Amino acid sequence: MKNSRRKFLQSLGGGSALVAAGALSHNAHAKVIELSPEREPEKKYGANDKVRIATIGMGIIGHYDTETALKVAGTEFVAVCDLYDGRLEQAKTKFGKNLVTTRDYREILARKDVDAVLICTSDHWHSQIAIEAMNAGKHVYCEKPVVHKIEQGLGVIEAQRKTGKVMQVGSQRTSSIAMLEAKKVYESGTIGQLNMVVATYNRHSSGGAWQYSIPPDASPKTMDFDRFLGNAPKVAFDPTRFFRWRNYQDYGTGVPGDLFVHLISGLHFITGSLGPTRIMASGQLAYWKDGRDVPDIVSAIMEYPATDKHPAFQAVLQVNFVDGSGGQTKTQIIGSDGIIDIGWDDFTVKRSPLPKAPDVGGYDSLFTFTEATQKEFMKAYDAKYSKADREWKKLDDITYRAKEGYDDREDHFRNFFASIREGKPVVQDPAFGFRAAAPCLATNVSVFEKRIVNWDPVNMKMS
Ligand SMILES: NC(=O)c1ccc[n+]([C@@H]2O[C@H](COP(=O)([O-])OP(=O)(O)OC[C@H]3O[C@@H](n4cnc5c(N)ncnc54)[C@H](O)[C@@H]3O)[C@@H](O)[C@H]2O)c1
Repeated sequence: MKNSRRKFLQSLGGGSALVAAGALSHNAHAKVIELSPEREPEKKYGANDKVRIATIGMGIIGHYDTETALKVAGTEFVAVCDLYDGRLEQAKTKFGKNLVTTRDYREILARKDVDAVLICTSDHWHSQIAIEAMNAGKHVYCEKPVVHKIEQGLGVIEAQRKTGKVMQVGSQRTSSIAMLEAKKVYESGTIGQLNMVVATYNRHSSGGAWQYSIPPDASPKTMDFDRFLGNAPKVAFDPTRFFRWRNYQDYGTGVPGDLFVHLISGLHFITGSLGPTRIMASGQLAYWKDGRDVPDIVSAIMEYPATDKHPAFQAVLQVNFVDGSGGQTKTQIIGSDGIIDIGWDDFTVKRSPLPKAPDVGGYDSLFTFTEATQKEFMKAYDAKYSKADREWKKLDDITYRAKEGYDDREDHFRNFFASIREGKPVVQDPAFGFRAAAPCLATNVSVFEKRIVNWDPVNMKMS
């Protein structure tokens, strides 16, 4: 057991510094490993050497993403596009009066002083703006899920390939130091043979259920509602649809596209999987009956086929917006010898390998045999199995967690800008992003059409 523990620990390490890990090799009871990123010293960039960014969609995540991008050395924020004037005004107040503002993203794409755009609009605009931006010579950071419909995925991949621009998809946890460590643990074989993944993203609040605040000055004057609709069906001016777009299939992708996509991105990153081949799901609107046309509870079963990276396994995913426990996010990667139990930027390895010898005694048929047969059975059993063969090994749990204040979004943006400057590969290119999004969109198809959906994750096509 000591040897296998040492071997397991040796297989860790690499890119991250394992704070407090030193104690672990000497102390069998040490259980928590704090992870902190190893970063190269920041370079200084001159005024002519900045990556100039513009944000398209300055809503909630537009702020988070822009602020995070600006933490990376050598970035400059030059322009912003949004369809509600209050957000353009607030961006100027926050980021400086020289910020160029517009309601028309094409003006941003036409600017020579913009190198990269952050696309933070509602889902139904992602693929169109991403393709136009790359064709206009801009690098793209596009929020998940990149596509609103499965048919849009290959077009984005093709535009990136054709233009050679850098495109990173924004499911940031794939850059998390904890996910990198979980990947190493998975690849070390510690949990034995993978057979199942159980992932949940449960919430219990009105904000969590997407009932975001609507500004009292929302009007056809202060907002460009028609532009927001884009190719979606024409409807009369409705600020609720605009500010709570996730609640409508015409603009959002439901709980799968909003939240499953994070769970699946993490899963694909850790296991190296390309995706499931069969998706079956059920959804219901249980509580938030505010006019939305998407469920607030969704469960899906996805069948992942065996590949050279992993054996066949089942993934069971669930989102519940009415979780009276208060809600939680977790992903359990379950193997024959143990599991990786992931929160967000933390995970615990729990191990309970099966002994070599089969169970005998206790709730077993042995005692129902005659005394003579029991003796004969045990004689053969004792001859076959040593004491060690029968032992249930008690292995300590090990928790890994990113140090306090760690932000995976920052590492995701560092990776994006390193790719622009140094040609490093992005963690989440359009194919990765689409392969994570497609099973989510297939979940919606399964829910609404009440059928099993077949998906070809290699060629990224419905099958
Ligand atoms: N990676 C993450 O952790 C994460 C978290 C939250 C949201 N997101 C994603 O970010 C996106 C935005 O979510 P949000 O919560 O910020 O929404 P939001 O409603 O707060 O903001 C969206 C903004 O996009 C603008 N917009 C819509 N269409 C536009 C267009 N054609 N041109 C210019 N602006 C347009 C709207 O005016 C709005 O201000 C979604 O796709 C969501 O899935 C990602």
